[in-house]
Amino acid sequence: MANPLQVLTIIGARPQIIKAAAISHAVRTVFQGRIAETLLHTGQHYDSNMSQVFFDELGIPRADIDLGVGSGAHGVQTARMIEGVEKELQSGKYDAVLLYGDTNSTLAGAVAAAKLHIPVAHVEAGLRSFNKAMPEEVNRIVCDHCSTWLFCPTDTAVRNLVHEGFPAEINAPATANRPHVVASGDVMYDNSMRFAELAAQRSTLLKEVALQPGGFILATVHRDHNTDDAARINAIFGALLDMHRTHRLPIVLPVHPRTRKMMGILLEGGLQRAIAAEPGFHLLPPVGFLDMIALERGAKLVITDSGGVQKEAYFFGKPAVVLRPETEWVELVEQGQAVLADADPATIARAAADFLSHGVPRCPPIFGDGHAAEAICMHLLGR
Ligand code: UD1
Ligand code: UDP
Repeated sequence: MANPLQVLTIIGARPQIIKAAAISHAVRTVFQGRIAETLLHTGQHYDSNMSQVFFDELGIPRADIDLGVGSGAHGVQTARMIEGVEKELQSGKYDAVLLYGDTNSTLAGAVAAAKLHIPVAHVEAGLRSFNKAMPEEVNRIVCDHCSTWLFCPTDTAVRNLVHEGFPAEINAPATANRPHVVASGDVMYDNSMRFAELAAQRSTLLKEVALQPGGFILATVHRDHNTDDAARINAIFGALLDMHRTHRLPIVLPVHPRTRKMMGILLEGGLQRAIAAEPGFHLLPPVGFLDMIALERGAKLVITDSGGVQKEAYFFGKPAVVLRPETEWVELVEQGQAVLADADPATIARAAADFLSHGVPRCPPIFGDGHAAEAICMHLLGR
């Protein structure tokens, strides 16, 4: 039997750990002996509820290498990661580097691997917000253009790459100069389907917070554009408080550490006190993935600036008010499940009221068949 394909998977931020669960599981089951995975954690996220909890819950083996890079300015953080990844790749052990999404950990892996001529496989390739003020947009463009395999979760992502000059046809083995663009489906859809039942069995969060299924609003806020701008963070939290009072529905908001820090610095004192005085406005620490699925499935409405959360809302047939001016998940808006409300209180209020009275249209399955991870592994093996 041929030697297994040696893959270095790089993760670092919360959503990447979650995404990695799908392929990691496929590698240890269906593809055992054919693909061998080494897991490198950059340490971009390090609090236990931003990192370890996902390894424990989703059955991901512990990281083989932990760079322990931690937080820092973009340049400092990314440079430390590139240095650490490069060192590992210089072992000469790897046939490919597997990267997820659009964080600084993704960027670092792409740059380090491409310079050493080690083929890059990018999962969640081709997404574009067309807003280069987002650090994620810069990261994903650079990563795509360093990649040998571009695994696209949606047809729009495939089209974006073809517009940028990537070959539409696959008629030769993949190389960095002749990459493969593959419509693989979305590994997050795989995960949401795989863990939904487990979440239903294990999560007790709704009971603990005394939330009724179908009777609360789930919110998340963490984009730097929203958290680090005084006008925007105050507008968003003000809009959430008004919504809570108008519709008399509990709001539950697991707070990202960036947001927790910036709320303390930028949120007006009166607004902080008003939120704290509302017993039905629940600010929680970040929750695990099973609790998050339980919240998404139980919510009447989701309000978020997260890429992953707006999409999971779709998977579970819940409407989403998106706290951004644009989204790379344009299908959600086209289907009518998501409305782009930016940080504008009037638009947020209108979109929420509309969804709360009329619900959400159908959410047809457009993110693959729940087996994106296997499709990706198969394609890697056929290199
Ligand atoms: C990062 C990604 C973003 C992704 C998000 C997922 C980049 C540029 N951004 O944003 O695309 O949507 O992760 O959650 O890569 N912090 C802690 N504990 C932690 C991690 C972070 O306290 O375990 C705090 C620190 O104050 C840190 C801040 O959060 O400075 C921001 O963390 P960072 O990883 O730089 O960016 P995110 O906002 O998390
Ligand atoms: N998530 C979680 N706990 C939380 C908030 C989010 O498990 O408290 C999950 C969520 O279900 C999704 C992923 O984290 O799978 C999204 O991560 P995040 O919103 O941090 O980043 P983004 O998707 O915007 O990059």
